[in-house]
Amino acid sequence: MTGPLKNYTPFLKPYTSRILLGILLGSIAGAASGLGVPYFIQRVFKTIFDSQDTSYSLMYLIGIAACLPAVFLVRGVAGYCNQFIISVVGLRMLQDVRAKVFDKMQRLPLKWYEQRHTGDLLARIVGDTTQMNQALMTLGNDGVQYVFQSIGGICYLVFLSVQNSDSMFILMLIAMTPLMTWPVRLIGKHLKRRGREVQNSLGSMSEALTENLHGSVEIRAFNLQERERGLFLKRLNEFLHASVKLTKYDKLPQPLMEIIAVSLLSVSFVYAYRAGIGFDVFSGMGAALYFSVDSFKRMVRAWNIVQRSQGAFERVEQIMSAPDDLEGNEDGFKLERARGEVSMQGVHFAYGEEPTLDDINVEIAPGTVCGLVGPSGAGKSTFVKLLPRFYDVNAGVVRVDGHDVRELNLESLRRQIAYVPQSPVLFNDTVMNNILLGRPGATREEAIEAAIAANADEFIRTRLEKGYDTMVGENAGRLSGGQRQRLALARAFLRDAPILILDEATSALDSESEAHIYNALEKLVKGRTVFIVAHRFSTLKLCDRVLVFDRGRIAASGKPEELMKSSDLYRQLHELQALT
Ligand SMILES: Nc1ncnc2c1ncn2[C@@H]1O[C@H](COP(=O)(O)OP(=O)(O)O)[C@@H](O)[C@H]1O
Ligand SMILES: [Mg+2]
Repeated sequence: MTGPLKNYTPFLKPYTSRILLGILLGSIAGAASGLGVPYFIQRVFKTIFDSQDTSYSLMYLIGIAACLPAVFLVRGVAGYCNQFIISVVGLRMLQDVRAKVFDKMQRLPLKWYEQRHTGDLLARIVGDTTQMNQALMTLGNDGVQYVFQSIGGICYLVFLSVQNSDSMFILMLIAMTPLMTWPVRLIGKHLKRRGREVQNSLGSMSEALTENLHGSVEIRAFNLQERERGLFLKRLNEFLHASVKLTKYDKLPQPLMEIIAVSLLSVSFVYAYRAGIGFDVFSGMGAALYFSVDSFKRMVRAWNIVQRSQGAFERVEQIMSAPDDLEGNEDGFKLERARGEVSMQGVHFAYGEEPTLDDINVEIAPGTVCGLVGPSGAGKSTFVKLLPRFYDVNAGVVRVDGHDVRELNLESLRRQIAYVPQSPVLFNDTVMNNILLGRPGATREEAIEAAIAANADEFIRTRLEKGYDTMVGENAGRLSGGQRQRLALARAFLRDAPILILDEATSALDSESEAHIYNALEKLVKGRTVFIVAHRFSTLKLCDRVLVFDRGRIAASGKPEELMKSSDLYRQLHELQALT
């Protein structure tokens, strides 16, 4: 096997015995076609056409005539079983590969996702794996059966030549072999390249599609239908062009092989005439030739499919070989329950070229309620995202309870943290189950308590048809932004983690609901370290300490009332808010 294909040999392992059985059956079917059919054709023809003996009994004739259907029966049954077994193995492998890719994707760093498009990833896990599966199945089905068929056919031809003591024919066959592989080699590299283009353009098409689906509201609001149609048509055209080019090469070997086959056949006419061989031998030879050429044709087709799937293999391989999130710290130190001490020393971080956080030094004692304020884009969200190690720092160190987060077992680190982003995602499940995700194993009562603290209980009971058992729908499309935020808060409260991060987690709420939540928070923050990226200054009342962010640096830090005196930026931000 070549290239990326060989990385998939481990996937074959669990099915070794079935594959061997498939190969055995394929070889039986192949030998029955290549060797059995020509042999029995010759036998039957000899008996029927060439014999001087006219005294065969009817039963004998029927018996002789039945040889051919019998061979075809063996060929058919073995061939069918081979196809079935190999196809099922192929489907199971497809499942294994998809599961493996999916697993891998759960562990990839966020940075990796940000450089890619959901649509393209979707195409890889659905489309490219299907293409891979098709290649492996064709290889397993046609590859096996037709290899044996051609071997059988050639053996029979060799047998005939030896029997007729004619070595010319064998030499001719050997001379023909490079000719047979010529069309394959000619188009192989084209197929590989075009196949890659087709898979990539499928990825782009899927990108356009997912974007269109995500933007359904904006498309209507801004009348973007024509633009979207144009973009999608462009992608469709690219796909069409790539596919046409692929088809051009894909369909080429078939006629080429046929021309070679017919040439072979006419050469054999000459040979037959000169050797003075009978019709029975000639028909046997013809059948053997037909089956060998036919199998060459099919093997070429199988090989073509493998060639054009290389792109698919590569595209999936790019996911499989990406560096893991958890790499190297499966055995990292496992935190049981953190005290909640957080510190950063000399932290620098950049998403790309431009620094986003620039020399951050801060020590947060356990149990501190820490507010973060600053102009938008100052780096507040980035700061809190470093704690659960969504990203790794470029320089410096982030510590939780004195441990460098990179040295901690990642799962145990994330268990210490309840994180609520500004636009939380809810899963397509019931309200109750969405809250319970915060702490699987919690009771219904505990979940309801968390919902009460998040000021969500009332709307769940009164506004939702089936209360806590209402399905929220795809990304909770049926809930308002504020309702979604409240469910996400309930989820975080239920989590009962020593570190709580609220990143503008109440931005979509009216002041009244927000006030209610912050009242509840007063109880909830006890014994926890809390980071609140505040969008209203009123929430800072809760805070023991406020960090003022400005262009990736901490410009000031202290209690809110101290900052009013000491920090110009803080005062400015406060005044701007008072105006609105
Ligand atoms: N995923 C990302 N990829 C690249 N740049 C980002 C990403 N997230 C944020 N940024 C950039 O980093 C800077 C800080 O962003 P952020 O931490 O979200 O600011 P804040 O939360 O204070 O508004 C901004 O300039 C923003 O454009
Ligand atoms: Mg932010």
